[in-house]
Amino acid sequence: MAGIKGAVAFLLLSALAHLVDIFDFKTRSRRRRKGWGGGSRRSGGILRWVVRLSGLCSAAMVMVLLSPSFQSSPPAEAIRSSHYLRFPGGGYNHQLAAASSETKGFAFRQAPRFYNAADCEPPSANGSSVCDSSLVHVAITLDEEYLRGSIAAVHSVLMHAQCPESVFFHFLVSELGMESVVRSAFPGLRFKAYYFDPDRVRWMISTSVRQALDQPLNYARNYLAEILELCVSRVIYLDSDLVVMDDIAKLWRKGLGSKAVGAPEYCHANFTKYFTDRFWSNRRLAATFAGRRPCYFNTGVMVLDLVRWRRAGYTRRIERWMEVQKRGAAPGGAGRIYELGSLPPFLLVFAGQVAPIEHRWNQHGLGGDNVNGSCRDLHPGPVSLLHWSGKGKPWVRLDSNQPCPLDHIWAPYDLYGFAAK
Ligand SMILES: *[C@@H]1O[C@H](CO)[C@@H](O)[C@H](O)[C@H]1NC(C)=O
Ligand SMILES: *[C@@H]1O[C@H](CO)[C@@H](O)[C@H](O)[C@H]1NC(C)=O
Ligand SMILES: *[C@@H]1O[C@H](CO)[C@@H](O)[C@H](O)[C@H]1NC(C)=O
Repeated sequence: MAGIKGAVAFLLLSALAHLVDIFDFKTRSRRRRKGWGGGSRRSGGILRWVVRLSGLCSAAMVMVLLSPSFQSSPPAEAIRSSHYLRFPGGGYNHQLAAASSETKGFAFRQAPRFYNAADCEPPSANGSSVCDSSLVHVAITLDEEYLRGSIAAVHSVLMHAQCPESVFFHFLVSELGMESVVRSAFPGLRFKAYYFDPDRVRWMISTSVRQALDQPLNYARNYLAEILELCVSRVIYLDSDLVVMDDIAKLWRKGLGSKAVGAPEYCHANFTKYFTDRFWSNRRLAATFAGRRPCYFNTGVMVLDLVRWRRAGYTRRIERWMEVQKRGAAPGGAGRIYELGSLPPFLLVFAGQVAPIEHRWNQHGLGGDNVNGSCRDLHPGPVSLLHWSGKGKPWVRLDSNQPCPLDHIWAPYDLYGFAAK
């Protein structure tokens, strides 16, 4: 009897997953045809959510009706299975996902517990407090679309750290359920999750060349100084599409001099192209960089001095540039000042005033460009961190059996798949 129920549930779920797929494809291609206009994108977005939500609800009902054992499973399971239905284009295998809802366990595997080496500084009297001065603080965002990447990033930090128990993770989330995934994937992990309200930035975001860049959570890094506890005076911000292959404590200890931001700089890159002609031709705007030698830096790996940040009010300064962009991009406005998402405001405030960190700490661009996501090679020199910035993501390319050579380096950090039960 259970076998028949399972088969029926599996069939229904596959059908639903495909239905969502089809609808999703339709809204996406319509969006492409209409170009990047804000109106069409919004309606496409709403339709997609309605479809996803209804798919999700029917799937949940089917499961509850057909599988009595599912009724008693914890909420985390339901959230994980919803993952597949809501992101059918993300390179996940629907059939595996649906089948496993029956057999359970297709989700994130549990990583082994990681322990400090003998010569690690013992925790101070404060023990479990986030204010413990011996901690290395790392901030990462968690959302459904990039969850697999974020989990791999955390895993990579723990695997290579000499003192993994001294790393404290600050997770920025805008959806429920992320916290329980982390808790079950990493036993004993020291972390805290913070809710980031998308409405805090949504009104300031103007659309960019790639939709993924417009997600409100992309802008959470601007607010770390406000979100984290006041006793946290420094934090390493990491994107969700990277793996750390060295001891994170080495990055943590980099001297920032008098600067608030430390990051690898790329002074040979053509800085002009990050801003529009309107920006450069407006003398008042272009004067922003007067007296600095601005260089491009990637905001996916940054060491932030939060004390200096708070003192100088950098969050507000970044917001002001976003407002200039938003006003310029509005109908009848003077024109945009840049095309990308959260990066240019950072460049406007910090370029030329960044504490340079060795390039090995951000070997970026492995995802190709923002349009094609083609394969890229490493920059010459040693590697402490690999970053798949750009459109191509290693998990998507691996799942579709079209990996780039370097994607195989990412695979061992991936915790997504069948759990051994
Ligand atoms: C211990 O934690 C408290 C807050 O919980 C903080 O004010 C204090 O500075 C911490 N002490 C040390 C030695 O880290
Ligand atoms: C840099 O980019 C701008 C705009 O894309 C272009 O006009 C300029 O020629 C480039 N400069 C160099 C040195 O390549
Ligand atoms: C993307 O690929 C197409 C076709 O292969 C090519 O024509 C186009 O120039 C590429 N775009 C970029 C930004 O590299």
